[in-house]
Amino acid sequence: TPPKTYKIASIPADGIGPEVIQAGIEVLQTLSKTLKTFQLDFTHFDWNSERYKSTGSYIPEGGLEELRKFDAILFGAVGAPGKLMQWVPDVPDHISLWGLRLAICQPFQQYANVRPTKVFRGTQSPLRNCNVGDLDWVIIRENSEGEYAGQGGRSHRGRPWEIATEVSIFTRHSVERLMRFAFETAQSRPRKTLTCVTKSNAQRHGMVLWDEIASEISKEFPDVKFDKMLVDAMTARMVLNPASLDTVVATNLHADILSDLAAALAGSIGIAPTSNLDPTREYPSMFEPIHGSAFDIVGKGVANPVATFWTAAEMLAWLGEQDASAKLLEAVENVCERGTITRDLGGKSSTKEVTTAVQEEIVKML
Ligand code: NAI
Ligand code: MG
Repeated sequence: TPPKTYKIASIPADGIGPEVIQAGIEVLQTLSKTLKTFQLDFTHFDWNSERYKSTGSYIPEGGLEELRKFDAILFGAVGAPGKLMQWVPDVPDHISLWGLRLAICQPFQQYANVRPTKVFRGTQSPLRNCNVGDLDWVIIRENSEGEYAGQGGRSHRGRPWEIATEVSIFTRHSVERLMRFAFETAQSRPRKTLTCVTKSNAQRHGMVLWDEIASEISKEFPDVKFDKMLVDAMTARMVLNPASLDTVVATNLHADILSDLAAALAGSIGIAPTSNLDPTREYPSMFEPIHGSAFDIVGKGVANPVATFWTAAEMLAWLGEQDASAKLLEAVENVCERGTITRDLGGKSSTKEVTTAVQEEIVKML
């Protein structure tokens, strides 16, 4: 039988997005050619902030219907660097985020955002006494509602009594489906441990609903060790006792913040991936490195491609290519261990050098 072909939509978008997505595709094609068990057929979409600035939209008319036909989406980063002052973006961040990334996540019901982090062999956590294996987490972030539901408004613009509301939405339906997904994820990992993070002492409605649903669903998973943490105490536990955590589930806002902390504790934001999953598989899921468009290093050839390689591995696993996924991650870790790492990890290698080293490692390993 001929190898299975997956149709992948690539949306490199802004900043270092195109640099790391290019690297990711090169490595994936090497893996596919070497393993010969699957093929990847990429279609590129130029949905980015330049397009927004010239046409007024990130996604053209009919774009989502077209995107729906793909098996998966490989996404770079969105966010436009400012021409005059690089810290003032040309397109406000809330416009770029809602115009492209959330404009895909929300209609495609990608309600589970999955963010694994670990300390790779050959890389170092900024924590003293944190060794390879101690920090090996998966953060599951609610990706469809909560604090980022987009509910609220502004009135009396510019007046001293101007008012803005940002309403958090927590529904039983969404919390239950996410919690079940989190327990299943925890169950599939060796340590079978799930920590549910909320702030149910201060936020006594939505967060209490989260806690209650977590306890209810935990009864369906008696083999998963389950505990609860308040988000503020959780930051301290992540820093002081990383080995006590494994799978973590939290709201859209809390998990957004905790996962950046997780990435930093693992050594760099340039390592970790994010999967935006529709666990029902009605729509394609979207895979992206956790970092943003990194205005400060665009075009310098120093962007760490490892987050995108790990992202690519997560995408393969979701498509059912677990073996290829594991091999890709192993090749990346071998290359890190040998010291071929970018500046953000304390090395000297360029994006290209790391990419070539991973490609060579794949060929050598298989
Ligand atoms: P950022 O992740 O782009 O950069 C933060 C810092 O990490 C910078 O110093 C950057 O150079 C460094 N960095 C990031 N990725 C790296 C990599 N692969 N290799 C080496 N160093 C790396 O976050 P920032 O500066 O807050 O946001 C910049 C823009 O990106 C904003 O417009 C923001 O809205 C957008 N953004 C987009 C995201 C997405 O598309 N999912 C996620 C986060 C931010
Ligand atoms: Mg974030």
